Amino acid sequence: MHSGEIRQKFLSFFEKRGHKVVSSASVVPANDPSVLFTTAGMQQFKPYYIGGADAVKDFGSLNLASSQKCVRTSDIEEVGDKSHLTFFEMLGNFSFGGYWKKEAIEWAHEFITKELGLTIDYVSIFAGEVNVPEDKESEEIWKSIDPEITIKKFGRADNFWGPTGEEGPCGPTTEIYVDGIEVWNIVFNEYYQNKDGGLTSLKVRGIDTGMGLERLVKVVQQTDSVFETDMFESLIQITDSRIVADHIRTSVFMISDGVIPSNTDRGYILRRLLRRAYVHARKIEAGTEVLNSVAAAVINHPSYRNLYSFAANTKEVVMGEIEKFKKALDAGLKQVEKGEDPFILFTSYGLPLEIIEEVTTVDKEKFERQMEEHKKMSSVAGEQKFSAKVGGSANPEGGKN
Ligand code: GLY
Repeated sequence: MHSGEIRQKFLSFFEKRGHKVVSSASVVPANDPSVLFTTAGMQQFKPYYIGGADAVKDFGSLNLASSQKCVRTSDIEEVGDKSHLTFFEMLGNFSFGGYWKKEAIEWAHEFITKELGLTIDYVSIFAGEVNVPEDKESEEIWKSIDPEITIKKFGRADNFWGPTGEEGPCGPTTEIYVDGIEVWNIVFNEYYQNKDGGLTSLKVRGIDTGMGLERLVKVVQQTDSVFETDMFESLIQITDSRIVADHIRTSVFMISDGVIPSNTDRGYILRRLLRRAYVHARKIEAGTEVLNSVAAAVINHPSYRNLYSFAANTKEVVMGEIEKFKKALDAGLKQVEKGEDPFILFTSYGLPLEIIEEVTTVDKEKFERQMEEHKKMSSVAGEQKFSAKVGGSANPEGGKN
């Protein structure tokens, strides 16, 4: 089954069960300054869970389904293994008071076992922790569907999801595992978590589910990793480097949603991805044209037709940043070859240790000592600048310590 068919099957399945199919939002969240990128399907629907917006008025339904473009870079070091990616699509069904646990679990079971013909290894439910009780209701529902099913119970670290950012809707989860992989996370949004971590009950209980399409496709197509599925085929034909394929793919999606490389926030994350991609390409002696070809393969992927309209600009941003970086890196490395300490790659070229390690030999302990020293010097310099500004005293309140 092709990835396009799996995505469509999911959306049609929920459409037939009273859901309105909604397009993916941008990877740059529209009204949520607490996060840099969209990390889950529910993010564009946050106001509907907390009563700040009316789904019936806006979508004609309390129940929605989507395939959302997501960016998560917290696991960037894991990229290249069998299942971690910095960009992925998340299939999700959502409800803001329309249905609750029974329907959500029964439909998830039906979709996985009947529509996709997969066998569930086991499911997990919330074991109860602090003042959130054990999820006995989900346990009963699973047993009523399949008395033989293995049910594991875990606490807040594993079976409780959200909020995205500092505050928001969240709740206990039940998760479905196939071939040892967590494929589907079903969240019962019953709570609102405040900035101080306190939970209050939401007036209307909501459903929020997330199923990573790339992982699901790996399980359906029975490949060894996500990179061998049809979703990555045209990219991996150009380069074996999974890191290059992943990072350029994510960069293309970021750029087409308006992110440009910079030294802060989203722009910095994009810059870091492009630089990492270049450094890995360089390590396997691939030229910059490989990065251009991978970007073109993402843009030309049959699943992502809407990337076409940004194609020229996207490739220009990708290659512009990479060429600039290549020049700086070559100049810095020349200085190192001539005997300069590799630390200048940080002080003069702004490269982080993880990149410097990839391009030259570094004494890590020495580098870290130099880094500490550098930080001290910068804070002294900063204080001196500050005291000059406030007339000789480092304390703006005038001598109180
Ligand atoms: N919102 C559910 C998930 O991202 O897993």
